[in-house]
Amino acid sequence: GRSVVTLDDIPMTQILDLLDRAAYIDTHRRQVAHTCDGRVLATLFYEPSTRTRLSFETAMLRLGGQVIGFAGAQLASVSKGESISDTLKTVSNYADIVAIRHPKEGAALVASQAATVPVINAGDGGHMHPTQTLTDLATIRARKGRLNHLTIGLCGDLTFGRTVHSLITTLCRLGHVDFVLISPDELRTPEYVLERIRSSADCTYRETGDLNGVIGDLDVLYMTRVQQERFFNEDDYLRLRDTYILDADKLRAARPDMAILHPLPRVNEIAVEVDHDPRAAYFQQVRNGMLVRMALESALLGDELPGYREQKEVAA
Ligand code: CP
Repeated sequence: GRSVVTLDDIPMTQILDLLDRAAYIDTHRRQVAHTCDGRVLATLFYEPSTRTRLSFETAMLRLGGQVIGFAGAQLASVSKGESISDTLKTVSNYADIVAIRHPKEGAALVASQAATVPVINAGDGGHMHPTQTLTDLATIRARKGRLNHLTIGLCGDLTFGRTVHSLITTLCRLGHVDFVLISPDELRTPEYVLERIRSSADCTYRETGDLNGVIGDLDVLYMTRVQQERFFNEDDYLRLRDTYILDADKLRAARPDMAILHPLPRVNEIAVEVDHDPRAAYFQQVRNGMLVRMALESALLGDELPGYREQKEVAA
């Protein structure tokens, strides 16, 4: 079966179709409730998660399927030394589709090569988080009505934030985006991601440390958490963690229709008072996370959403 380690190898028409499917599911919850009857999803989470694991699981349950898995490597046989490959060869006998999160970059690729069923990367170290990107795209499209001709600020830990890497590389394929990369010097965007922007036909970027100076230019502000678990040095983390705190005062300089996204979990980087601001989109983003995972799971399994194709043909 087809696996999703990165969105890079999925044609853009299919990515946009997944967003359309997610929107369809949102308004046809009853009709799609048996789409994946009899299917089993395995969630193999070697790293902490609230949203990603629970939304993958809820997605399968809401499509009529069932769920197995582990959350926390200490309870699985990896704690006895089992390899990812052996784990995936094993789980391929039990499940029709697998979602895996692992602290090492490349773990999802290894898993997909060992498995005989589709594997979805639910986050591999500081590398990629493709289903978060689908979530982010669905949210940007819902808020702004488009995915290009936008000025998008990404703020915080741009070095270790895998959601940022996945999102930028995918947006680069969609047309004209001006990226404003806002971070402390120590947490700048990796070169391989900058290179993707430079080699895209239509996108630009600028790097800055000053959120206040650019916030008024932005259509979208994507805040991120400083990724404590990927730091080698606790002192560096403590020094950098509160560099940016978005609050009502800072938002006074932002456009009235700017959308504020955050993959969550948040620590301090968005003040709780901002949750009441109509520009805050991060809990809508959480809901979209479940919808895009419903779309992806059913699509990878080849389970047609009842009525979807007909509606698409009518719309076309
Ligand atoms: N956005 C995200 O990946 O959240 P979790 O770490 O809670 O899954």
